[in-house]
Amino acid sequence: MGFAENMRLLPHRTMRSLLISLSQRRSLARLAVGSPLTRPVVARFVAGESLEEALPAIAALKRAGLRTTVDVLGESVTSPEHAAAAVDRYLATIAALSERGLDPNVSVKLTQMGLEIGRDLCRANVMRIMEAVRGVNGFVRFDMEDHTRTDATLEVWRAAHDAYPGVGVVIQSALRRSSADVDAIIAVGGRVRLCKGAYDEPATVAYRTKTAVDANYARLMERLLLADAHPALATHDPKLIVKAIRIAEREGIGPDRFEFQMLYGVRRDLQRALLARGYAVRIYVPFGQEWYPYFMRRLAERPANVGFMLRAVVKEEARRLRGR
Ligand code: FDA
Repeated sequence: MGFAENMRLLPHRTMRSLLISLSQRRSLARLAVGSPLTRPVVARFVAGESLEEALPAIAALKRAGLRTTVDVLGESVTSPEHAAAAVDRYLATIAALSERGLDPNVSVKLTQMGLEIGRDLCRANVMRIMEAVRGVNGFVRFDMEDHTRTDATLEVWRAAHDAYPGVGVVIQSALRRSSADVDAIIAVGGRVRLCKGAYDEPATVAYRTKTAVDANYARLMERLLLADAHPALATHDPKLIVKAIRIAEREGIGPDRFEFQMLYGVRRDLQRALLARGYAVRIYVPFGQEWYPYFMRRLAERPANVGFMLRAVVKEEARRLRGR
């Protein structure tokens, strides 16, 4: 039996935990990023390694009628210099989007802004991004990382929201605490992107079955829609999408009062189908050289992607050997 078959036989949960744990290995990141073998598979999920490569992809989505939010890839930064360089990359991105008439809407991970170095540094860094976005009438959303960062992310978000209403945050239905967090955000008029959660969380803080995570998503989604909180419903799950549409139709909530969000390269058919039915769909477009952890989380979400990647790598390697 080959490696790919062995991987397929692992239970979904084990495979997911394994891939998430590999996503945090810096040595593997260096290996993967330096290898040309992974490029074609990574390109499905990442719009390019540079801003110049990503801009045409963002423009093409706009031409197709899709909205976008851009993620300059990077996370878990450990030096103030690296955090400052990440801010500069965001500022250049915001300026380029605005100059080209593209949506100046960005998604930011706070550990890339120095959250693990210090909250003051992180706050000062996100302020620079928020000022740039304010200048071009854009929008910033703070992504949510694993549960050890939830309190800190929400604290920085709250300070940012008090200073500037054009900032949103992400809530994960996998976390047991999210019901209380959603209520608190609704109470202050905040903007929520609701997702299931991409991290491997312990049972003490998270629901561990798909049924429980989905049921919580449905509850939180309904609460956000009924509160008229203009939620961003980030999922590719057709059952939850149908549920959202039913709630909106039943309650007379127009398509201008919420939006669907999906990841670049995932369920393009569904993206187009929702658009054709008159719904707003925003695509999360990541770009940059630090794609490894993001890419591994995409593999973890759908273990079939691993087989797909291994086949592509073997094909590429065979082509290289033939050419020698
Ligand atoms: P689910 O995992 O049940 O998948 C439903 C269907 O979608 C699958 O059957 C498959 O067809 C398709 N699908 C899903 N993922 C796929 C993949 N990787 N490759 C191919 N097909 C796939 N998470 C987080 O923790 N913090 C965050 O800030 C964000 N931000 C974010 C923004 C946006 C716009 C999206 C869409 C998602 C996120 N996420 C996130 C990720 C999110 O938590 C979750 O891991 C993924 O969206 C997958 O969950 P689904 O809701 O799609 O359901």
